[in-house]
Formats: sequence, structure tokens, C-alpha cells
Amino acid sequence: MTDEMSIKPVPSPMQKFAFFIRSITFATKMASRHPIWVIVAIAFVTTLGWGSASAQLSTNFYSKSCPNVLSTVKSVVQSAVSKERRMGASLLRLFFHDCFVNGCDGSILLDDTSSFQGEKTAGPNNNSVRGFNVIDKIKSKVESACPGVVSCADIVAIAARDSVVLLGGPRWEVKLGRRDAKTASLSLANSGVVPPPSSTLANLISRFKAQGLSTRDMVALSGSHTIGQARCVSFRARIYNDSNIDSSFSKTRQANCPLTVGSGDNKLAPLDLQSPTAFNNAYFKNLISSKGLLHSDQELFNGGSTDSLVKTYSTNSKTFNSDFASAMIKMGDIKPLTGSKGEIRKVCSKVN
Ligand code: HEM
Repeated sequence: MTDEMSIKPVPSPMQKFAFFIRSITFATKMASRHPIWVIVAIAFVTTLGWGSASAQLSTNFYSKSCPNVLSTVKSVVQSAVSKERRMGASLLRLFFHDCFVNGCDGSILLDDTSSFQGEKTAGPNNNSVRGFNVIDKIKSKVESACPGVVSCADIVAIAARDSVVLLGGPRWEVKLGRRDAKTASLSLANSGVVPPPSSTLANLISRFKAQGLSTRDMVALSGSHTIGQARCVSFRARIYNDSNIDSSFSKTRQANCPLTVGSGDNKLAPLDLQSPTAFNNAYFKNLISSKGLLHSDQELFNGGSTDSLVKTYSTNSKTFNSDFASAMIKMGDIKPLTGSKGEIRKVCSKVN
């Protein structure tokens, strides 16, 4: 992965103290020359400065305020995934769909209210995104240990990482400190920010670019389709209309996904035909043999600019794993609410 992971340091108590002393010295000098309101204004602005410096995500955000948060999340994810391995895939996707609609702010978790329509019923999510019960269960455990401290947005980020690890994928340190949105947007969720499975390569590239993610990040993150399932409605057009598809593969998939729109729409097929509950690089091998399930999947290996990267990932799982982990960290950095923005929800499906 060529992109850097930049983690801005949170100032240590010593650094804060040194800053305080410098500020006092500066203010004393100013006081000899300027009226008091100038000093007050300077103090206010510098305090705000610290506010934004500490408003960065950090891996140790809850180390004092909720030291057991990571083990609590992990234990709930572990029991959910041991009951149903697909749940790991669903929790990973939940994080993607949260982050791509106005940032990683837990907005996807909100139910409709009288003042807004939430994202749960948006096209990409309706009858499709899963895992809300697992998130609610984690939240209630975390709330009893550390009430009002850990955001739902962070819980989704941790659960996604734990899911990938449990299914055999790479591990990364999750940056934390996101706060929860007080609203959600059905219209934004429906606007195409989450690209549809009919997407061309150009659309995939531009949708990820709009979120600050490179083409390389996009290809690596698409490797998520090494786990989980899709509904017939998402791949019907591909298995009946596309020509860049292995013919025995399309026949197999057609057997459980009727041509007629509206019949069998919710029938499921694995995104990775080889190992749908193991996080590995088989997804990329499938693309090379024209066995991508979604039209958008096969776009990554269809004679275009991403072919060579697909080949690299198909033969080098170390490169895939490390690019995937870096890209997940970048995705988790999309427009977080920090500082005093948003809130820490008590229940993930409702604003406080
Ligand atoms: C590149 C653009 C992407 C497109 C067009 C896309 C599209 C889709 C579609 C259509 C499904 C099946 C939904 C259904 O039929 O119910 C799906 C499933 C899934 N997607 Fe994506 N996706 C993309 C990127 C991602 C990313 C970036 C991630 C995670 C970081 C992800 C993770 C998943 C997972 C794990 C599943 C299976 C979920 C389950 O079994 O519950 N996808 N995706």
C-alpha cells in the first residue's frame, strides 16, 4: 500500500502543560501592551486550536474511559459469528454503508422518526443490510460497563474489524473517537454514494474518489466480497446479460435466480463461490476466471486499468491483506464527528 496512514498525536499531559506555560508567558507579554479583551480573544482561539488537534481519532481513545470496550465488542461478535458465519460479512458491510453516507457516524443505525426518514429503507440497504441486532447487543453491554462513553459509530468500526479477523483476514488497530449523528439521510443513502452492482469501473473509481479513497483502496476494499451473500436481484442482470462470464458459472447461478423480475428476488448466492465464509484472496482468483458474481465485481477485471492489481492480489495474499487493512483505516476516517459534534447515543437506533 502506497498511501500513508496518518495518525495525528493527541497531546500528552506534559505537552499540554508546556503549552499552558507558553500561553501564560505570551499572555503576560501581551497584557503589557493590549487591553484585556485581546488577551481573552487570543486565549479563546488557542483553546479552540487544541480542541481540533485533540478532535482526531486515535487507537487509545477509550483506554481510560472504557478500558474493556474492545474485549466486550469482540465477545459479542465472536458469539454472533459462531452462530452464523455470514454475520461477519454483514457487520463488515454495515461499516461500509455507514461510512459512505455522510461519514462514519452511525447514521445507518437510526430508525425513522417524525423529523427524518432514516437510511435503513434506502435502496442499497432495504432487505439487505444486516447486523443491527448484534450492534444493539454490543451497545447494551458497553453501556452497562461505561454509560454514555462509547459511540455506536465506533462500535460498528470495531465490529467490522473483529469480523474480518474472526473469518481469517488481517487485523488492524481501529482508530476511535467518532461520535454519533443526530440525524440520517434517506435521500443521500439513495443518491448513488454507495455504488450499485450495475456500476461501471469508472463509476466505482469516482464514487470512491469522492470519499477520498484511491482506486487501489477501492480494489482492495472490494475484496470484502470474498465473504457473504448477494440476492438474486443484485446479480440477475449479470448472469443473464453479461458476456464476460464463465458459462458454467452463470448456468449454476441461473438455477437459483429466475430471469423474471420479481420472482426469486431474495434468493441468495455466495459472492465468492469458493470459500464464502473465509476471508482470503479467492475473490480475485474468481475475477480472473470470469466468475465474479456482481457486474461491478467483474468490472475490476475486464481489460481495464485495475486488471494488474487484481492479478497481484490473486497471487499475493500478503499484499491484499495489508492493502485491505490500510484501506479500512482510511475508510474509517471518512468525515467522523468529533469533539463536541454529534452525541454519544444511549441506544444505537435512536437519537438521545
Ligand atoms: C465497490 C463497490 C461495491 C458494490 C457495488 C457493492 C455491492 C454489493 C452488493 C450488491 C451486495 C449484495 C447485497 C444484496 O444483494 O443484498 C454486497 C454485499 C456485500 N458487500 Fe459490497 N459492494 C461494494 C463494496 C463493498 C465494500 C467496500 C465492502 C466492505 C468494506 C463491501 C462488503 C460487502 C459484504 C461483506 C457483503 C456481503 C454481506 C452479507 O452477506 O450480508 N462491499 N455488496
